[in-house]
Amino acid sequence: MQSGNMIIKNASQIVTCSGTKAKKGKEMQDLHVVENGAILIEKGIIQSVGKEEEILKGIDESQYQVIDAEGKAVLPGFVDSHTHFVFGGYRAEEFTWRLRGDDYMDIMNRGGGIISTVQATQEESKEELYENGYQRLTSMLSFGVTTAEGKSGYGLNKETELKQLEVMKEINENHPVDVISTFMEAHAVPAEYKGKEDEMIENIIRESLPEIKEKNLAEFCDIFTEKNVFTIEQSRRLLTAAAEMGFKLKMHADEIVPLGGAELAAEVGAVSADHLLQASDAGIAAMAEKDVVATLLPGTAFSLRESYARARDMIEANCAVALASDFNPGSCHTESIPLIIALATLYMGMSPEETITALTINGAAAVDRADSVGSLDPGKKADIIILRDPSYHFLSYHIGVNSVERVVKDGIMVMD
Ligand code: NIG
Ligand code: FE
Repeated sequence: MQSGNMIIKNASQIVTCSGTKAKKGKEMQDLHVVENGAILIEKGIIQSVGKEEEILKGIDESQYQVIDAEGKAVLPGFVDSHTHFVFGGYRAEEFTWRLRGDDYMDIMNRGGGIISTVQATQEESKEELYENGYQRLTSMLSFGVTTAEGKSGYGLNKETELKQLEVMKEINENHPVDVISTFMEAHAVPAEYKGKEDEMIENIIRESLPEIKEKNLAEFCDIFTEKNVFTIEQSRRLLTAAAEMGFKLKMHADEIVPLGGAELAAEVGAVSADHLLQASDAGIAAMAEKDVVATLLPGTAFSLRESYARARDMIEANCAVALASDFNPGSCHTESIPLIIALATLYMGMSPEETITALTINGAAAVDRADSVGSLDPGKKADIIILRDPSYHFLSYHIGVNSVERVVKDGIMVMD
């Protein structure tokens, strides 16, 4: 039997999330559900999806690994389009300081926060970073994540940024989850560059970007555009230069202070703008017009006790909204997809259907993969989750509990 040949049958629901581009506004509500469905997979690629009697007519089932979905719901694997899963050390004590009332940005400005992870990441060996990163990705897989974006940004110098990206590349080669790499040296300002942020940006453009491009270590370039970090002008400079070198763009935009990050993302043609807790109406309109995916990270707002991004306003303004974990050692130390779903549905006013769209096809669009993952359509990768429940409604209804029982990646059962 050819590896990656599989039939999934006896599914109460196949939630296809059908489409090859981001779903905007009202389209996010439409999941395209097939009842009593089956999926035919060959060499890891979906051949057909539909009613079981039609899909399996004339098929010699002995040529396939046959999976009985046992009357459970089947969905595309989730795409976690914003994470920082390769990092050194931990910041557990910092979390306790924040519980006592310390401010996230104050901690960073006195050398803790991101800066302390930078030190730990510089000190850790590639082997340690690999081991921990690999395990974190396995935990993400257990929640049904089959594609994950990962950022550098805990090096803040070329050498350690390269180390992080090389580790991510190796993990991608060996782990079933697909990893998409983002270069983010402009994640924080180290002590030696305080007050010399322009110089740091120029150095990144001159030294790091060309080498990362040449070694093909990252597909995206990202920046933390924020008060006391990088300004709009510095961000424009870096992102424009990165685009000229062939990088796709992402931004940490309007997270804490409204700076016009969403507007800049639209101006420079970013694939996504992320966080957006403070995005303006004009920024939201600009993202909708220029097809920038609005990637919302409710785990971070929850963990920082900030108010949530205005998901409803964004959907009503015809934006494509994605949801992601922002899994990182500081502002959001969780890879829990059930938590993200609970926050989106209970606190951001997103429907279960919009939430699923945001974690599948729109997550795929946020990493420029809507043509190959994020939905169950013929020609796409067979990245599939089987729930322990008969309908997709359980994903939001069973609060904070993992509904994912089995995971198929490229037509192979990787979690059972
Ligand atoms: O997406 N906002 C900046 N960067 C990360 C936080 C990283 C950290 O705290 O280590 C974020 O929230
Ligand atoms: Fe982030």
